[in-house]
Amino acid sequence: MLAFVWRQARGGCVMKVAIFGAGYVGLVTGACLAHIGHQVVCVDVDAAKVAEINGGRSPIYEPGLDDILAGVRAAGRLTASTDADAALAASELSMIAVGTPPKDGRIDLGYVAEVSTTIGRSLANRGDRHTVVVKSTVVPGTTGGLVRDALERASGKRAGVGFGLCQNPEFLREGCAVDDFMNPDRIVIGEFDARSGDALAKLYAPFECPHVRVALVNSELIKYASNTLLATLISFSNELYGLCEVLPGGDGEVVMDGLHLDKRLAPIDGGKRIVPQILGYLRGGVGYGGSCLPKDLNALRAHAEAMDVPMPLLRAVMGVNSRRPALVIDALARALGGLKGKRVAVMGLAFKPDTDDLRESPAIPLVDGLLAAGAEVRAFDTHAVASARARWGDAITIAPSPEALFSGIDAALLATAWPLFRSWDYRTLVAAMRTKVIVDGRNALRHVVWPEGTRYIAVGRGPQAS
Ligand SMILES: NC(=O)c1ccc[n+]([C@@H]2O[C@H](COP(=O)([O-])OP(=O)(O)OC[C@H]3O[C@@H](n4cnc5c(N)ncnc54)[C@H](O)[C@@H]3O)[C@@H](O)[C@H]2O)c1
Repeated sequence: MLAFVWRQARGGCVMKVAIFGAGYVGLVTGACLAHIGHQVVCVDVDAAKVAEINGGRSPIYEPGLDDILAGVRAAGRLTASTDADAALAASELSMIAVGTPPKDGRIDLGYVAEVSTTIGRSLANRGDRHTVVVKSTVVPGTTGGLVRDALERASGKRAGVGFGLCQNPEFLREGCAVDDFMNPDRIVIGEFDARSGDALAKLYAPFECPHVRVALVNSELIKYASNTLLATLISFSNELYGLCEVLPGGDGEVVMDGLHLDKRLAPIDGGKRIVPQILGYLRGGVGYGGSCLPKDLNALRAHAEAMDVPMPLLRAVMGVNSRRPALVIDALARALGGLKGKRVAVMGLAFKPDTDDLRESPAIPLVDGLLAAGAEVRAFDTHAVASARARWGDAITIAPSPEALFSGIDAALLATAWPLFRSWDYRTLVAAMRTKVIVDGRNALRHVVWPEGTRYIAVGRGPQAS
């Protein structure tokens, strides 16, 4: 069962909510809002997704989501639909949680614009107050610009007068999205005006964390600031790991362990060390990925540069990240004396553990780089299998078991730190390898006692004295 602590809705302020986009953010948001008592309809253009949700199944893998979905479906508090107009007619607040995917070096706001127009049209003929909330990650100025314009044009009404308008960035992390949503550290309410913000504050009233009420543009920017900081810490760590990798005896993990003890990073309170989660981002590996960090950094950079504001730090952060997979492949190629014709097993494909999301996963440049160098690639992942098949087809083999993955290979490259990998029987698995090289791209296997003859290469570790 989930570990979140739930506080009952205060004051019985049940709201009727339509959520546009039933993806990672929209579905988790919908399920959790229904769980706290709101009446939710999730709208998506993908009829198969809608059918799955109405059948009580989550189309995505996210720990805890199936349970929560079953509960709210049974209670009749969540439905899914492709009928936007009916969903809007039955709701007092709508949330836009559609994708904002990368396009031509920026983000594609087309889905946000389309939904804004759909919502605007339905607002034209209604007399009651409706509040529109942008939950998608959008570049600063989008909600008060593109979204407001589309809503006003389609409805013939003015923001603040004819309808409410808010921006509400989402900070959930895939893999612990339900827990994150149910136990938020803050709720950012970007508001066009106080009345709009009040409507959104009512929706979130049961959550006792700070409600940060700010102007729309600052709300949009808070999300970018968060993700930019995380990516910067990761690239800072990777740059140091790269240096350690050429220093005899160097070890990035040891350096970071020492750094983490700085009391400005990990304060000591009453003799007890507080270990903030942010320290998890001060570690190197194969680079960051996922549907957010790469896209958000690039979008912010492009947006700022289009306004003649240079972003040299962001450029450097992205540069370090994009070079990281190639450095790991180089290390593997050196260990094997070239990659052509070599059989390499990739352990993990999802961009991080506990998700089936392959979007912008570092495993993509790793697999592509191996294939381009002429290696034969086998891969194993517990959840990102369908998306891997869709991406690579027959170009790689998906192994059904650890034994099938390791049999006859020259090297294994760990790309995703699935906890499962820590408990595999490497004595038996390594014995089945043709050449015994392990490259640990996440430093997840440092505890393993490797069989005699194994060459274990951990990221961030330089040449060791023999
Ligand atoms: N995934 C994350 O961890 C995360 C975290 C925070 C913020 N975000 C942001 O939230 C937004 C959504 O991300 P996601 O990962 O949930 O995307 P997603 O791709 O998983 O889901 C988007 C959904 O929107 C649907 N859609 C597209 N056009 C539509 C329309 N006109 N009407 C209704 N539905 C429509 C798609 O079919 C899809 O199901 C993005 O802006 C993203 O940057 C994502």
